[in-house]
Amino acid sequence: MTLLVLLITFVFLALASPSLAATADQWRSRSIYQVIIDRYALPQGADPTKCDPADRTWCGGTWNTLQENLDYIQNAGFTAVWISPVSQNYQGPTTPYGDPYHGYWIADATQLNDHFGTSDDLKALSDELHRRGMYLMVDVVVNDVMATSTNPDLSTYMFKDSSQYHPYCVIGWNNNTSIERCWLGDTVVPLPDINTEDPTVVSGFGDWIESLVKEYNIDGLRIDGMHVNMDFWPVFCERAGVFCIGEVFGSDPVRAAASFQGPNGLDSVLHYPMYYSLVDAFTIPGPLNTTAVSDMMAQSKALFNDTGLLGNFLENQDVPRWHNISVDPQSLYNAMVFNFMSDGIPIVYYGQEQYSNGNADPYNRAPLWPSDYANTTAYQLITTLNKFRNFLAQNSTWLYSSANVLATTEYGIAIMKGDVISVLTNIGSPPQNVSVPVYTPFQTDTDLVNILTCVHWVVGSNGTIEVEYTLGGQPVVLIPSSELPGSGFCGDNIPLPHDWNGTSWTVLSAQRDILLN
Ligand SMILES: *[C@@H]1O[C@H](CO)[C@@H](O)[C@H](O)[C@H]1NC(C)=O
Ligand SMILES: *[C@@H]1O[C@H](CO)[C@@H](O)[C@H](O)[C@H]1NC(C)=O
Ligand SMILES: *[C@@H]1O[C@H](CO)[C@@H](O)[C@H](O)[C@H]1NC(C)=O
Ligand SMILES: *[C@@H]1O[C@H](CO)[C@@H](O)[C@H](O)[C@H]1NC(C)=O
Ligand SMILES: *[C@@H]1O[C@H](CO)[C@@H](O)[C@H](O)[C@H]1NC(C)=O
Ligand SMILES: *[C@@H]1O[C@H](CO)[C@@H](O)[C@H](O)[C@H]1NC(C)=O
Ligand SMILES: *[C@@H]1O[C@H](CO)[C@@H](O)[C@H](O)[C@H]1NC(C)=O
Ligand SMILES: *[C@@H]1O[C@H](CO)[C@@H](O)[C@H](O)[C@H]1NC(C)=O
Ligand SMILES: *[C@@H]1O[C@H](CO)[C@@H](O)[C@H](O)[C@H]1NC(C)=O
Ligand SMILES: *[C@@H]1O[C@H](CO)[C@@H](O)[C@H](O)[C@H]1NC(C)=O
Repeated sequence: MTLLVLLITFVFLALASPSLAATADQWRSRSIYQVIIDRYALPQGADPTKCDPADRTWCGGTWNTLQENLDYIQNAGFTAVWISPVSQNYQGPTTPYGDPYHGYWIADATQLNDHFGTSDDLKALSDELHRRGMYLMVDVVVNDVMATSTNPDLSTYMFKDSSQYHPYCVIGWNNNTSIERCWLGDTVVPLPDINTEDPTVVSGFGDWIESLVKEYNIDGLRIDGMHVNMDFWPVFCERAGVFCIGEVFGSDPVRAAASFQGPNGLDSVLHYPMYYSLVDAFTIPGPLNTTAVSDMMAQSKALFNDTGLLGNFLENQDVPRWHNISVDPQSLYNAMVFNFMSDGIPIVYYGQEQYSNGNADPYNRAPLWPSDYANTTAYQLITTLNKFRNFLAQNSTWLYSSANVLATTEYGIAIMKGDVISVLTNIGSPPQNVSVPVYTPFQTDTDLVNILTCVHWVVGSNGTIEVEYTLGGQPVVLIPSSELPGSGFCGDNIPLPHDWNGTSWTVLSAQRDILLN
């Protein structure tokens, strides 16, 4: 079997045409807004009060309503949109777990989900994104299909032969073979596990993904659930011909998540291990363990093939909203800065910018429209971070550099990627008489600018800066002012603050920064 798969891999590699759409390297500089189509925007005239996530049913969003409301995403500086699965889903009566409004209950993958629109609508969404210079990422499921019994009618699926499925069994999570072959879900909503070792499945999925990507001009794939034999992935992603990022759920061990990235797996994975470290470091209340983040940065560098391609997130459709586990918005702002200013591709799940606060599924999938798409402080911070990262990403030295830890203390962490230093704290909004001292590699007197406030900081003796939190725990993002021209930030050529008197400040504090602002 393995030999056959290898042979197929070889044939596909040999015949592969040049990628039509975006490669991993083209995605490196992008930032992604994640959308559940059903929950992003309503059609004109629909009743906006009729969507309760607890009902687990359709609320009415479509590919068209996303297309009509892309300004909100693009104005925030995002350069790519990840949409929930487009394939046809289960169409029977409502199950005890609701209806497949989320798109993950695949029936026939070769058909589109007509709840979300027509083939022309999906093409129009893709065209509009490309017209705006943005990429389209589509969520796909290959591990399984959905059923309402453990003995479903296979004629309703893309793969119709029982040999193309693994026989029903319950997953034993300490056994990899079992994880790959047994069925997710339960006996109420079983998810029949596709036999991805079967050569007809390998070629069938290859044909399907190649034509889906071509038909809709898809630029990248997010792949649900990695519970599949590893040698399936390189073949599948080669046929897709675009960037593939996989969902490896869970944090432990990092080595396991890392084993999926590289020539024997996929281009990238969602960085779940870092997500859990950020939760440990920044949520209030929480363990406030900043070491978890610095340790994870070191482990990531050692274990992943390419940290610059990992997907950085604080929320998605499977984990609680950040605002549910940490109500202080400064906690969100500091962790958010980390995701944009460290290695990896930032991903923001729709609604995070509106402080959506549900916990687990289905409450983390609330409709966006009750927010009125407001220009919140979180939306503005994300806009600033996107614009800054979009500027930095034109500089390949910054883009390909690997972030380092400059300081880890009880109250915060300072990281440096390229020449950009981010000092992040978990103290939250209430002021505290504490500080994070940082040794930078910059010369004494180097003029830095905090791009979040446009205030200058001058490096003290021996390269020091010290961030004080006597006005609360705001994030600080510093770049040498000499590198700002062309950025559109802080007037490019910033006048010095009014009380500058030509003498270098040995220590500037966040307090001073805010007062000057
Ligand atoms: C692991 O799971 C597979 C598939 O269910 C099963 O055949 C095998 O016996 C299991 N191995 C162990 C050691 O339990
Ligand atoms: C199980 O799979 C994970 C992920 O690929 C891997 O890291 C781990 O070594 C595997 N365990 C065994 C016992 O093969
Ligand atoms: C990372 O993957 C690329 C191709 O995907 C490969 O050429 C390279 O050798 C890998 N690097 C490491 C350090 O594994
Ligand atoms: C903080 O996280 C590190 C790394 O994950 C761990 O080794 C350490 O035990 C944690 N500290 C506390 C106090 O939980
Ligand atoms: C967390 O979510 C649950 C369910 O959505 C909700 O009842 C609870 O109030 C939320 N907690 C916070 C702090 O937002
Ligand atoms: C949001 O508000 C900020 C501050 O007032 C403003 O600069 C920005 O243009 C607004 N963004 C949008 C999309 O309206
Ligand atoms: C590119 O980034 C590097 C590292 O951040 C910096 O040293 C260099 O000055 C930047 N180049 C330009 C043209 O901004
Ligand atoms: C802040 O702490 C420093 C030393 O830890 C102390 O000297 C100073 O008086 C404190 N300031 C206030 C306002 O409490
Ligand atoms: C100067 O900075 C280095 C780190 O860059 C530090 O190890 C050293 O202790 C500092 N010296 C003084 C006198 O603060
Ligand atoms: C300039 O400002 C610094 C710091 O506030 C102060 O110590 C110094 O005396 C001032 N110098 C002059 C010439 O005003």
